[in-house]
Amino acid sequence: MKLSQLIPIIYNWVDIVCLILLSVIPIGLLGHMTGNFLTGRIYKRFVLKKWPHHDKPFKPLPRRLAHLTHVICMVGLALTGMYIHFPFFDANRIIIKYFHYFFAFIVGVNYIFRLWWSFFSDYPDSDEFVLTWKEIKVIPAVIKYYAFMADDKPHLADFNPMQKITYLSFAAVMPIIGLTGISLIFGEWLLPPIARFFGDLPTTKLFLRLIHYLCNWFFILFTVVHAYLAISEDLPAFLYFFFNIEPAHHEEHGEHGEHVESTGSHTEYQESGGSLEHEH
Ligand code: HEM
Ligand code: HEM
Repeated sequence: MKLSQLIPIIYNWVDIVCLILLSVIPIGLLGHMTGNFLTGRIYKRFVLKKWPHHDKPFKPLPRRLAHLTHVICMVGLALTGMYIHFPFFDANRIIIKYFHYFFAFIVGVNYIFRLWWSFFSDYPDSDEFVLTWKEIKVIPAVIKYYAFMADDKPHLADFNPMQKITYLSFAAVMPIIGLTGISLIFGEWLLPPIARFFGDLPTTKLFLRLIHYLCNWFFILFTVVHAYLAISEDLPAFLYFFFNIEPAHHEEHGEHGEHVESTGSHTEYQESGGSLEHEH
């Protein structure tokens, strides 16, 4: 079968599988929320105000603004992109496409800024995203916590290993979706040198569009879970990240803490009678 015949079939399957996932994931998250209620996690967080401990709670404003810009643009891109794919209401297609390109430009500049920030700013944070072998080994323990098979998850860094994998893959998929997008806009000029690998220019475009579409689904599905976990697991971090509302209780003042497992040189925080014990 020729690639140009195969791609439409793959497209159909991607539509079916991803739309099913998009419907099933919120049901799964609702089930997870029920688990949070039944296991008392909601009570512990919202009533007893025990939220995760952060080694580095301060997140500079530009970092948070970059995230907010990202969220707004990604929502705009996903909506306009899905409209390009499924024109689900009557509108001017060309205008929607230009909205898509507008958000794409902003998100591209924002992405480059965020990369620069993590390495070269006064508050570089690239080390927060480094995934060590030690962290990879605790992934099953983190999954057990999310599956309610354990009360705590190992705390080796501010971001747990699954968070790091998600953030690193967001960063890796971003250039793929951006470059495939640019190659679709300027295909006539950019693609002829590689067109012979795929047969002809239209097939090359179709192939790159499929990659673009797959990345689109990756972002949609992962963002749904990311947003749910961000809000349900750490509401104070969410309020701080999005609305600059500083957490009411600072761990340093001993008003809030959570038992976290200690490994190696890490510090253990435990709440005891309202004061924070600092053990080594
Ligand atoms: C970052 C830079 C991006 C650029 C330059 C870009 C550009 C484009 C272009 C040129 C198209 C094809 C329009 C056409 O058929 O004429 C397209 C389609 C699309 N884009 Fe983007 N885009 C970008 C990012 C994104 C992102 C981040 C998402 C989703 C989160 C997204 C979702 C989509 C979808 C769903 C389609 C329709 C694909 C299809 O029907 O197969 N795009 N984009
Ligand atoms: C409604 C949607 C979203 C919500 C509610 C949300 C929430 C959050 C929160 C609260 C954090 C801070 C976690 C912490 O420091 O403990 C965070 C971090 C992060 N989020 Fe999101 N997020 C959303 C969408 C996105 C999207 C669309 C992307 C990228 C495509 C993204 C990428 C990231 C990354 C890379 C981080 C790491 C920290 C940083 O950027 O400084 N998020 N998110």
